[in-house]
Amino acid sequence: MTVTPASRRGPGRAPDRIVVLTGAGLSAESGIPTFRDGDGLWERHRIEDVATPEAFDRDPALVLRFYDMRRAAAATAQPNPAHAALARLSHHPGVTLVTQNIDTLLERAGARDVIHMHGRIDGALCAACDHRWTAPAAMAPADPCPACGRPRTRPDIVWFGEMPYHMDQIEQALARAQLFAAIGTSGQVYPAAGFVDFARAVGAETVELNLVPTDDALDRFDASIAGPAGRTVPAWVEGLIGPG
Ligand code: APR
Repeated sequence: MTVTPASRRGPGRAPDRIVVLTGAGLSAESGIPTFRDGDGLWERHRIEDVATPEAFDRDPALVLRFYDMRRAAAATAQPNPAHAALARLSHHPGVTLVTQNIDTLLERAGARDVIHMHGRIDGALCAACDHRWTAPAAMAPADPCPACGRPRTRPDIVWFGEMPYHMDQIEQALARAQLFAAIGTSGQVYPAAGFVDFARAVGAETVELNLVPTDDALDRFDASIAGPAGRTVPAWVEGLIGPG
């Protein structure tokens, strides 16, 4: 269901500069649970118990185990038609694809240059020296950093209270955007939730694609397209750049 007028543009006539922001709803149909749908717990954990630097200081083994489970789940999940459509869009000139998701389903669908503002589940980071490497299947608090040897290994994930990655690059893309789309994100976590306001301020057309319109969607976006991403995103992409 489209709750606002359809795009003002005819099919196959994409603007020159497009920024797409994706969230957990993009991967929901691949079987990866979202954060804020359902019972408010995140795979049976409260977010504060597993996704903050304080939680990691308090109980690193619990946090690492939690991310080991998520890494295993992400590895077996398969990209859905929404990932495939955005992968196709990512090869179009002038498109910047930003995701809050830590899974790599966009890459596995063939997307290029995905900006992972909240990090990646397949990455490990040394909290002591910032060295990065591919995460093993299971991480332990005593694992030494391969570069400096100190036992400060953590997932390369941006936790609550930490600064998202690549903000300069994202802001540069937003500053030039003619079209901004937010896909499968509840718009509750900043700074990503503020990208639509930035895009509007520079005159971009804005659209959200979500299972259901988010709160105040029509105050915040020019259009809100409701439905499962696996259905709405391929149609939206086709409307922009034509059939694949
Ligand atoms: N298709 C489209 N949208 C969907 C679908 C679907 N099949 N299923 C759920 N959604 C929508 C929900 O309606 C909801 O608005 O996806 C959104 C998911 O919202 P959240 O769970 O809050 O996820 P997200 O916005 O990505 O969270 C942002 O919060 O916990 C942190 O760092 C984490 O990156 C995450 C950030």
